[in-house]
Amino acid sequence: MSDAALRARKVEALTEEEAQAELAALAAEIAHHDALYHRHDAPEISDADYDALVRRNRAIEARFPELIREDSPSRRVGAETAEGFAKARHAVPMLSLDNAFDEDDFRDFCARIRRFLGLPAEETLAFVGEPKIDGLSVNLTYENGAFVRGATRGDGTEGEDVTRNLLTLAELPRRLPGPFPARIEIRGEVFCEKADFLAFRAAQVQAAEEREARRARGEKVGPAITIPVNPRNFAAGSLRQLDPAVSAQRPLKLFAYAMGDASEPVADTHAAWLDRLRGWGFRVNPVSELLAEEEAAVGFQRRMAEARAALSYDIDGVVYKLNRLDWQRRLGFVGRAPRWAIAWKFPAEQATTRLLDIEIQVGRTGALTPRAVMEPVGVGGVMVTHASLHNEDEIARKDVRIGDTVILQRAGDVIPQILGIVPEKRPEGAQPFAFPTTCPACGSHAVRPEGEVVRRCTGGLTCPAQTVERLIHFARRNAMDIEGLGIENVQTLFDAGLVKSPADIFRLKDHVATMRGWEGWGERKIGKLLEAIEARRRVPLERFVFALGIRRIGEANAKLLARHYHSYAEWREKMLAATVIGSEAREELGSIQGIGPAIATELAEFFVEPHNRAALDDLAREVTPEDAEVAAADSPFAGKTIVFTGTLQTMTRDEAEAQAERLGAKVTKSVSKKTDFVVVGAEAGSKATKAAELGVRTLTEAEWREMSGLA
Ligand code: IVH
Repeated sequence: MSDAALRARKVEALTEEEAQAELAALAAEIAHHDALYHRHDAPEISDADYDALVRRNRAIEARFPELIREDSPSRRVGAETAEGFAKARHAVPMLSLDNAFDEDDFRDFCARIRRFLGLPAEETLAFVGEPKIDGLSVNLTYENGAFVRGATRGDGTEGEDVTRNLLTLAELPRRLPGPFPARIEIRGEVFCEKADFLAFRAAQVQAAEEREARRARGEKVGPAITIPVNPRNFAAGSLRQLDPAVSAQRPLKLFAYAMGDASEPVADTHAAWLDRLRGWGFRVNPVSELLAEEEAAVGFQRRMAEARAALSYDIDGVVYKLNRLDWQRRLGFVGRAPRWAIAWKFPAEQATTRLLDIEIQVGRTGALTPRAVMEPVGVGGVMVTHASLHNEDEIARKDVRIGDTVILQRAGDVIPQILGIVPEKRPEGAQPFAFPTTCPACGSHAVRPEGEVVRRCTGGLTCPAQTVERLIHFARRNAMDIEGLGIENVQTLFDAGLVKSPADIFRLKDHVATMRGWEGWGERKIGKLLEAIEARRRVPLERFVFALGIRRIGEANAKLLARHYHSYAEWREKMLAATVIGSEAREELGSIQGIGPAIATELAEFFVEPHNRAALDDLAREVTPEDAEVAAADSPFAGKTIVFTGTLQTMTRDEAEAQAERLGAKVTKSVSKKTDFVVVGAEAGSKATKAAELGVRTLTEAEWREMSGLA
């Protein structure tokens, strides 16, 4: 079944195998949108569509926790670092927030907190409500009271060092008045006010028009002028200027709101922490409020929605943070978001405009995706010109025709979604949209197998659109990690005919003379690129496998394959053998924990294609994949499978499971031969008996606490 056909199924109706396939597809899709949003500041779907993907992923994971992938979007944040800035590691990861969209979501969030902490229903939960500004989060490190470094969030673990740019912000305290801990990380949001954004945007639009007029007169013009699409985009672009002098001219503001690493505790509650921040000279959002109980949040949310338009900056919701920091610590994180905070978003804003055209884009796997081109219209203070139309059926279902007046919804970002059309405004003679049956990039047939929603180009690697997308994937940071080989450079090298397959990248050194002749390709750039390429002649097998861009082989599956087959030679041989249905190799592949028959088929389909094998062998002559290593254990539970059963006395089951995961264990629900430990609480039932039968080691709660360092 295709990804899109799967997506239409209810989560409750999915089989384990389907769920696994869909989680893999979602991981890839969300990673793609994350990169567009964070790395290129150029999202192509609306926040609402993005949130829908994330929610679907979460719902499937909630039903099949054992299928949660290592590269799951719920474990990952944001994007990789941009080129040009030094990298900066955060002492404590910078995470993201889960969303609530209505009162029910918020109450569920409170119920989860109570359940996790084992609190009775009558225990009140105090929160601090803070407006959620859609800016750019930064991590500010202070040592002995002095500002020493500032970084963007990046992928959550490592961001870009933007210290020099941050120093251009008047609102950033250079020194903290004492007392302060020896070392502390302070987190906040860099943003730009609506009026400043609009003024800057208007100036840019005018400059772009003047430039265009000069160009039309045949005069010489400077580089293209970028027009920011929303305040977030503008703030991000401004802070990430390589030249701090440019940042200095941009009207950036900063609100501080969170703590990262601290060498000693500084407060007991979030409210007290905000007071400390104010005392140190940070600007803390004055609209923030301490809410004595969860009920108060409902009123605060309503008041903020009313106050929203009058604020000088854009907000898209309210962040609610549990006030007690001891509870925050116990709750910890699940995946990429804290259990103790939530972003309650406002409903999306709408507008109508005319649909001018429907463009078709071709992705890495050949999927043809339609995109609406519209007359520019402001929705929630942002100009929009494009919207995703998802797929052929969606266009037919909504009966969207070129010339129609469409209703747009923007849920906080640049690319909105089309909710529907206004039938009375349809121009006479408007025709139903005829979805192309050939690929707009290469002219090959585009086919849509029965039961699938997505039409795909059959051109494979002969299709330039697919080739370029695959090459970009190959070089990206979590794949081969070739610095300097981003979207633009890959496109240039491809257009010039120098790189058509991954192996060609490693033969670029023979084309230095050609590259030297290109504008902007100086000696230094070429040298750095070739150096980055040479540095990747040896890579871990798992990266190599992931970089191939085989459908459904994300990072986690690539790792499973590498661990299982150990060496490249073995993997290649077994994959070829596995192309035969019913063969021993195919059985083996399909039975690897976490792979399964559907993914085995995907791999077989890749290996059955002679041109894929040729491209792979060509690459393997240039690159040496290194044998996979067995993970080193640094806690008694690292890499072990653990099951909890019965009632624990000192913590809830959820808390215990989260703790085990922090220590590197895999938590499962049922006991099997593969289980390493069963922690037996009070009134344990069949699982304890089963453990005894299978000879699996059992631990008492006290032993478990002791071994995990809690006792
Ligand atoms: S707290 C673990 N507080 O929202 C705590 N974030 O979706 C994470 N944001 O990356 C952050 N206003 O860029 C927090 N008052 C606020 C915020 C806020 C805006 C942004 C921030 C974060 C994103 C998470």
